Amino acid sequence: MPKFPAYRPRRLRGSEPLRALVRETRVDAQDLILPLFAVPGRGVRKPVGSMKGVDQTSVDELVRDAAEAAELGIPAVLLFGIPEHKDAAGTSAYEGDGIVQQATRALKREVPGLLVMTDVCLCEYTDHGHCGILHVHDVDNDATVPLLARMAVAHAEAGADVVAPSDMMDGRVGAIRAALDGAGFASTAILAYSAKYASAFYGPFRDAADSAPAFGDRRTAQMDPANAEEALREAWMDIEEGADMVMVKPALAYLDVIHRIKRETGWPVCAYHVSGEYAMIVAAAERGWIDGDRAMEEALVSIKRAGADMIITYWARQLARARRG
Ligand code: PBG
Repeated sequence: MPKFPAYRPRRLRGSEPLRALVRETRVDAQDLILPLFAVPGRGVRKPVGSMKGVDQTSVDELVRDAAEAAELGIPAVLLFGIPEHKDAAGTSAYEGDGIVQQATRALKREVPGLLVMTDVCLCEYTDHGHCGILHVHDVDNDATVPLLARMAVAHAEAGADVVAPSDMMDGRVGAIRAALDGAGFASTAILAYSAKYASAFYGPFRDAADSAPAFGDRRTAQMDPANAEEALREAWMDIEEGADMVMVKPALAYLDVIHRIKRETGWPVCAYHVSGEYAMIVAAAERGWIDGDRAMEEALVSIKRAGADMIITYWARQLARARRG
């Protein structure tokens, strides 16, 4: 290692062209996945109060947003659905004309180049807001897994390219892989939310997706924020069951987990820069306390630097527009 004054790190920071040449990490539109929220109806666009810049939209409006994303060079969207009616078993999640299925069909027809990823979880579809079938006051793992598999097949039938189970039930990746293969969808990929933590940072999302649990919380399914070794076990387990890509969620408070999963598995790693992480920056920027564009860039580049290959972020279009200049 050369020493000062032979080595002066500031030499390479003297101008933007020089900084650009030695820049180790870049985030571009092509690294990003834009989440979208589908609601029933036509011409509906309802802003989500806690997430400025994010709307719940009917399928026609959602197609518009997705087309704009594709035009900006964003390769994929991740669909969430808010159904017309909810029940204890989340039936509308796996019906053929479920809201995500409708949105997927419309996107495949109207924005064919865009990858469609779908969230597979029952919490938006159950009247109690939990991620599966309840047994007393907890989600029954083994009764829920087959429903998740049905939901994934319904999404694949509608044309989803990637299904993303976010429920954290044990064994769901294997069941989904088997169900997809059995139904003739061997090329539908699985992006598994492998290390999904029981996080306070999902707060605003539960407004956006109308999925707050009616009682209790998700700590019996989602991971304890204190655990990283366990995240590795979760990732390996999902990979062994057939996950094509693994996810860490949230992102910023778990950069070490992103790094370790990437280094130790070598598998494609996705990070979800979640609603609360987005809302904190947007809210502080609104008050003039922080430069929102720069803070968002810094957050996203740190997630890539940690080892993520791709990032799910509500800021995808803004970043893509900034790259267009
Ligand atoms: C569950 C799901 C959640 C998020 C994505 N999928 C909420 C939860 O687990 O409570 C959170 C995403 C975000 O906060 O942006 N369907």
